[in-house]
Amino acid sequence: MIAAPPLLVAEALTAGYGRIDILHDVSLRVNVHEIVSIIGPNGAGKSTAFKTIVGFLTPRHGRVLFDGEEVTGVRPNLVLRRGLAYVPQGRIVFPQMTVLENLEMGAYIERDRARVAAALERVYALFPVLAERRRQKAGTMSGGEQQMVAIGRALMTTPRLIMLDEPSLGLSPKFVTLIFEKLVEMRSAGYTLMLVEQNAVRALGIADRAYVLELGRNRFEGPGAQLLADPEVKRLYLGG
Ligand SMILES: Nc1ncnc2c1ncn2[C@@H]1O[C@H](COP(=O)(O)OP(=O)(O)OP(=O)(O)O)[C@@H](O)[C@H]1O
Ligand SMILES: [Mg+2]
Repeated sequence: MIAAPPLLVAEALTAGYGRIDILHDVSLRVNVHEIVSIIGPNGAGKSTAFKTIVGFLTPRHGRVLFDGEEVTGVRPNLVLRRGLAYVPQGRIVFPQMTVLENLEMGAYIERDRARVAAALERVYALFPVLAERRRQKAGTMSGGEQQMVAIGRALMTTPRLIMLDEPSLGLSPKFVTLIFEKLVEMRSAGYTLMLVEQNAVRALGIADRAYVLELGRNRFEGPGAQLLADPEVKRLYLGG
């Protein structure tokens, strides 16, 4: 049997802002139906790696392949059309718009109303609270609920890969647990996920594979459980 090719390959990315390189030869890979977690200290370049993959930054070296096709430097809205959705750090919602309007905004590239309706049903099945609160202004939802709106909006195009930057950041313990449960549920529902997380123990706990970035470079990689048990990873990144 021939193994399925990776859904995403980021190959030796060197990228940064202006003349300053932040990433140095960073390589990441995601296979279909995996959860891949990226951890590492503040400033390691995790968000920069995501911004480079989805096209907000163009790498100086290296390339990005999505489903076997090169998308290096392709703009974010075109990358999204190919099936790669991105949930940026900071659970950004349109506060004055209702939950439903926020979700509909996520489907802006979709013209077929039946597909939008089907996507909405899938989002409501995953996040029943969004169905209950569909008429509520998103800005009045709790932090955890707003993160669900942000994730739900990314799901409205039925992406083949969802990249989430710090989905649990700033949430209460109850919502942190809920968000991680939802990520696992999303994998069971057939989605493929890549996430950046401060909550390294939980991120490794749910990850099929994971990467540690440090100072803009690959430092460790392997199955989530293996990194979780690695004495050096524990000492350096998991608080002993
Ligand atoms: N728009 C920008 N312009 C210039 N430098 C930036 C910009 N965004 C990030 N940087 C710098 O790039 C480096 C990596 O930042 P990045 O946000 O990728 O780190 P991170 O690993 O996501 O950190 P955190 O865990 O704090 O979110 C930092 O030194 C940061 O100051
Ligand atoms: Mg970041």
